[in-house]
Order: sequence, then structure tokens, then C-alpha cells
Amino acid sequence: MKRVLIVYDTKHGSTKKVSEWVKQGVEAKGVGCVVKHVSEVTHLGYDAVIIGSPIYYEKPTKLVTGFLSRNQESLKNRVVGVFVVCMTDFFEHLPQFFLKRLINSLGKEPDAKTVFGGELEGISRLNEKACNDFGKKFRELL
Ligand SMILES: Cc1cc2nc3c(=O)[nH]c(=O)nc-3n(C[C@H](O)[C@H](O)[C@H](O)COP(=O)(O)O)c2cc1C
Repeated sequence: MKRVLIVYDTKHGSTKKVSEWVKQGVEAKGVGCVVKHVSEVTHLGYDAVIIGSPIYYEKPTKLVTGFLSRNQESLKNRVVGVFVVCMTDFFEHLPQFFLKRLINSLGKEPDAKTVFGGELEGISRLNEKACNDFGKKFRELL
């Protein structure tokens, strides 16, 4: 049984929802997945780890970047995916820049990365299928 950990932070809940949808995509026969808030992670004894952060003021949260910086060594030889959740989709380069900020803290190029739409003040760009699909693709890397 392969085991995947999804680590997220959130202020208003959308990155938690996204993480649960990614989990649905990852899970399959022989592949288990758990979702944990970054503050709940006690060890990284998993085959692969996906880390997701919402974007606030053009940055991933400090809890997530701190987690990545602290765990660079443990994540070095593991399959790693990253994603950000934000409302920007007008200019392709800007979400990529948010993602880059997360990757800088990871200290290596992740095996999978993506940007998901979030929700803000009643406007939703959440896309359950896109999250499921990312999870499924990630599972193929195991
Ligand atoms: C105060 C504030 C600042 C934000 N700053 C940005 C931003 O700089 N770029 C962006 O694309 N989205 C920004 N957003 C949108 C959030 O990324 C979006 O609401 C996301 O779904 C929040 O995730 P969460 O519900 O997991 O906390 C901001 C939202 C708030 C409330």
C-alpha cells in the first residue's frame, strides 16, 4: 500500500476543500491518502507528499513556506507535488510567480505543480474535477 500525505493551510476553508478533492483523485486500490492541516503534521513517513497553500497578498502562507523550508531534507528524496489556490487567472505569469514562491521554499523542482482557483466574497472559481484530475495524475508518479 502506497501512502500519500496532503498538507495544506487555509484561512477561509477553500484550500481544505481543494485538498479533499485532490485526495479523491489520489485514492485508488493500493494507494491511501490522508489530508492534514500543516499544524497537525508530526512526521513525513509517507511515499509522497503534496503541499498546498492559499495565496494572500501574492504570497503562500508563512506556515506553509516555513514547513517546506524546515523539511527540505526529508522531502528531497520523495515524490512531491505542490499547488496554490488563488483568484488570479487574468495573467498567466502571476499565478506561476506565486507557485515559484512556494517552490523556492521547497528548494527543488517538484514532480507535479499546479494552480487552482479559489473563492472570495461569494465568487467561486473552485473546480472539483480539476482537483480530482491533478490527484489522479499525481498517483501515476508513484
Ligand atoms: C485579504 C486577501 C488577500 C488576497 N490576496 C490575493 C492575491 O494576492 N492574489 C490572489 O490571486 N488571490 C488573493 N486572495 C484570494 C485568495 O487566494 C482566495 O480567496 C483563496 O480561495 C483563499 O483560500 P482559503 O479559503 O484556503 O484561505 C486574497 C484573499 C483575501 C481575503
